[in-house]
Amino acid sequence: MNSHAIAAGHAERLATVDALLPEMPALEPVEGSVSLSATAGDSAAAGLSVRTEAGPDSVDSPWRALVEHRLEARLTGPRPEAALDALLTRWDEHLKTVAPPGDVETAATVVRPSRDSPGSAELLRRGFAPVLVIAVRPADRLAVTGPPATPGVHIRPAEADDLETAVGLELELQRYDAQFGSVTLREGAEETITADLSKQLGRENPTLWIAELYGRPLGMVRVQFPGDTAWIRGRVAAEKVGYLSSLAVAEQARSSGVGTALAAHAHQVFDECGTDAVLLHHALANPRSTPFWYAQGYRPLWTYWQRRPAVP
Ligand SMILES: CC(C)(COP(=O)(O)OP(=O)(O)OC[C@H]1O[C@@H](n2cnc3c(N)ncnc32)[C@H](O)[C@@H]1OP(=O)(O)O)[C@@H](O)C(=O)NCCC(=O)NCCS
Repeated sequence: MNSHAIAAGHAERLATVDALLPEMPALEPVEGSVSLSATAGDSAAAGLSVRTEAGPDSVDSPWRALVEHRLEARLTGPRPEAALDALLTRWDEHLKTVAPPGDVETAATVVRPSRDSPGSAELLRRGFAPVLVIAVRPADRLAVTGPPATPGVHIRPAEADDLETAVGLELELQRYDAQFGSVTLREGAEETITADLSKQLGRENPTLWIAELYGRPLGMVRVQFPGDTAWIRGRVAAEKVGYLSSLAVAEQARSSGVGTALAAHAHQVFDECGTDAVLLHHALANPRSTPFWYAQGYRPLWTYWQRRPAVP
């Protein structure tokens, strides 16, 4: 079966799985990619393995291994899980030739539609774990249930002299998320975060807001408006896509409604600019963020299955 026939079968299968998934055309090789294919009885898989590398000081280095091998897969036939299993065998053979065993700065990652569940057991058996999720909140979700509005929470745009607060909250968030494998805190993290956040303060059109509780800054939310989300918008079948970059509440203020107030504020500003859907990443094993986001009207769209090191 050729890769276009496999992609067509894949698209047909997924059309009934999740209406918010984008179109998934046949895989096109890119520079440095390796094409793979496999069959299992009447089922077939096409894959593309792409290697990327990030410097330890780059803005996205906290969210990834420095070297990542990412597999994109198209699966068709009556047993997609068997097709994926056979593809993973091919991929493992390839990874053994390019990734040093035991190097924790290498990761093998398969980003799969969350609701396309066949193959999950096969991934687990090969040492992959579902680490990260892209969750989606369509704009027409109804208001959410949550804690009663906390009196005294005041939300305002971040100003230049909020830098220390914002960096402190972001570091606290990243330290917390690092426990669940979705963040790697490296030397120089504070400097990288400071450089990134300082560009987002005091803006005429704010993208970062601070929550004060009785005058003390204890939370923040950061967003990207639809004009700035080209890097992720292709992940969802929607026109105007917003991205919620981070939400953090200081440990002493958690569970008291500050996070809900910040999320409601972010959703209101997204609504005001006509956003169709909001995406965000969260660590699946985070016992605070996972239930929080699903109570705010999000649900999983893509799941990152990761094995790190790429070759154990
Ligand atoms: C995730 C996080 C931002 C949530 O913010 P928060 O201020 O703690 O959340 P809120 O208080 O607004 O909402 C949770 C509380 O709402 C209440 N609540 C939730 N659903 C409710 C409902 N249906 N009815 C009434 N109350 C409800 C509960 O009191 C709940 O607290 P609990 O989980 O301890 O029981 C915050 O915990 C945090 O910063 N965590 C660490 C960093 C992190 O994980 N950030 C997210 C990265 S993606």
